[in-house]
Amino acid sequence: MSQPTVHICLSPALYPMYHSNERIVVIVDILRATSAICTALQHGMKSVIPVATIDQANQFVGDDYIIAAERGGEIVNGFAYGNSPLAYINNPQTFGKHLVLTTTNGTQAIETARLSQTLVIGSFCNISALTQWIVKRNQDVMILCAGWKNRINLEDTIFAGALLDSLLRQGFSMDIDTDAGITALSLFRLSEADIKAFLKQSSHNQRLSRLNLDEDITYCLTRNTTPIVPILQQERLVIST
Ligand code: MLT
Repeated sequence: MSQPTVHICLSPALYPMYHSNERIVVIVDILRATSAICTALQHGMKSVIPVATIDQANQFVGDDYIIAAERGGEIVNGFAYGNSPLAYINNPQTFGKHLVLTTTNGTQAIETARLSQTLVIGSFCNISALTQWIVKRNQDVMILCAGWKNRINLEDTIFAGALLDSLLRQGFSMDIDTDAGITALSLFRLSEADIKAFLKQSSHNQRLSRLNLDEDITYCLTRNTTPIVPILQQERLVIST
């Protein structure tokens, strides 16, 4: 049997060119949506409900829900929560609740791939657990980078390279019909000694820094803070068993 192949889609705009029902889809928005989703579930939230718009988020009413909305890196006016993973750590107010989340790019990327057979969430927070989870399924994979408004970004591309690197070590192969894999892998290898320093050039890193969110950046680049893999079931992301 041939080895499973890893495909890398560097922007949601390219998704139709990569879509195939045979592939596990891994959504990646390192700064910060997929890091926040992993963290919220790790710290006791029951599920994360990703939605594309603020109107959709506002449909969820009641004590069971925490509504979080981010645009352009900032918490949307009128909401108590945004996209900072740190807000969900050891927080008695969010523990045991469902998080309804809408963000500039991460939840839009989930929306783009919502109908895929298997959709999971990737971040540096769960990279080892995710690698093992994918290896067990032994199936082709598409890493879908959320980017920024359908444009490519550095941090998601570097993570795609890091996950590709881990999967290559486990016997997976890389799609060589395009140069996305080699691009991501090269960027990862160029940056891996100090990803934080390398990402000083990243536009969203600079945007978050201007908003005094450097602590979030450091957290989002820390590996393996959780052993969980969030998976989309119906409309909700839950911990895969
Ligand atoms: C997004 O979805 O675009 C982001 O994760 C932006 C952010 O909150 O930093």
